[in-house]
Amino acid sequence: MPPPSPREHVESSYDPYNPLPSPIFQTNHRKPPAMLEFQLLDSRRKFLVRAALASGLSINTIQKALAELPPTAPQTKGPFYPIPDIEKQKHFDADLTRLSNDSPIADGEQIVIKGIVVDVDEKPLDNVIVEVWQACASGRYNHPQDKNDRPADPNFQYWARMLTPAEGSFSFRTIQPGKYPGRTPHIHYRILAPGRPELVTQMYFDSHTEENRNDGIYMNLKPEQRLAVTLGLEPQPISNDANSDKLPTGLFKIVLGPPNNPKSTQPM
Ligand SMILES: [Fe+2]
Repeated sequence: MPPPSPREHVESSYDPYNPLPSPIFQTNHRKPPAMLEFQLLDSRRKFLVRAALASGLSINTIQKALAELPPTAPQTKGPFYPIPDIEKQKHFDADLTRLSNDSPIADGEQIVIKGIVVDVDEKPLDNVIVEVWQACASGRYNHPQDKNDRPADPNFQYWARMLTPAEGSFSFRTIQPGKYPGRTPHIHYRILAPGRPELVTQMYFDSHTEENRNDGIYMNLKPEQRLAVTLGLEPQPISNDANSDKLPTGLFKIVLGPPNNPKSTQPM
């Protein structure tokens, strides 16, 4: 029989009737035993653990569930997905505020979105294609199906396609998307990761409380799903130089479900 692992040894030496951690835990800085972990949980999680125990789940299953992040909720693709092969959409770099370095700047308040694509264990995923698309400041898409009469912005890029490196990160500069009838301001995402079903979703801003509350697609999400796709923006330097200009910046974590789990990534 193989010797017990250090984790099992710590747990077997822990006295659940004594609230103090065992000397082994104190001196070796090992992971807290299960009972102590339970004491460290916030009250909401304690409630969930009690409910899970009452339903007969093992402590291992519960710990695994607590460690996993819920996958980002899929949302509708909408009718304005970019058409990459038409001439006017040939630009798709990570700066949507202009078509190229020497072209005029688009209208609207500039913002930066920094993102990361991870799996449910919070492991960053590389080689992921991240596509984003949105309306310009007036609330118009660069798409023949968009029939609203707001003016299109000839200087706005409308979409981007990025590839994540090893740390799963991506970043793009854009403008606050304009409002259009029936929707709160939002940015569309399509995520293509090797070996996983595609995720199509949308991202929102916490500054549009009222519009968000009146948006059917947004309100169709569960509260915790809404929280995960709603960003607050804070001024941050554009570059690593602390003296550089600052732009409102939001951080967006995209969590992909496990491979071959179409239920977790199917658009509604
Ligand atoms: Fe949209």
